[in-house]
Amino acid sequence: MEAINGEGSATTRDADGSGRGVHEALGVHRLVPVVVLDDAKDAGGLADALVAGGLPVAEVTFRTAAAADAIAAMSARGDMLVGAGTVLNAAQVDAAVDAGASYVVSPGLSRAVVERCHERGVLALPGAVTASEVMAALELGVTTVKFFPAGTSGGAPALKALAAPFGDVTFVPTGGIGPKNLHEYLSIPAVHAVGGSWMVPRDPVRSGKFDEVQSLVAEAVALLGKEA
Ligand code: 3PG
Repeated sequence: MEAINGEGSATTRDADGSGRGVHEALGVHRLVPVVVLDDAKDAGGLADALVAGGLPVAEVTFRTAAAADAIAAMSARGDMLVGAGTVLNAAQVDAAVDAGASYVVSPGLSRAVVERCHERGVLALPGAVTASEVMAALELGVTTVKFFPAGTSGGAPALKALAAPFGDVTFVPTGGIGPKNLHEYLSIPAVHAVGGSWMVPRDPVRSGKFDEVQSLVAEAVALLGKEA
């Protein structure tokens, strides 16, 4: 696998298809910007803003028809860790992986999605907010889950309590997280990284205000420096 940590972090998948290197890189960056792109033509400007802001990571959601083209444009650059979000079925896994995604995020736990990710050799990050869902994820060989929607599922206290019995499981809480409560989550040892859309709001992206996005990204990265 090419280096995917550190400065100018590059993308790509793990040569062994394990997803371990991608998982490790997400843990290094600690933040996963959740992106909704209305038009794939904005992918380049957004990618520039993310890289310049110090966070060469994106979870491009399949909430819009632009997702696959945006993933293709971002991953072709070779300087970003590009994943797909809101992946609901195996066909979308294929579309995401064919476009170059190196990890696949789902709002919930789908056996079909996880198994296709494993077949395609990309990291699967399915959603789980209950102990039963975490156990079902473990049965599928998944040890990092997306705690989603974090805010309305009890927030950081609920995540802390959920993590307690699962020593080997780590979490990517997402949903309702922003600068004000980011550290509540980051301070939990089981939290691998935190996801959110606050760094990449839809409107400035849509209107091409990438300098605004870059500032938000840089502010989020600066907050990491204040991690307890
Ligand atoms: C997601 O798809 O992961 C969430 O919609 C992101 O949640 P947020 O917009 O509250 O950050």
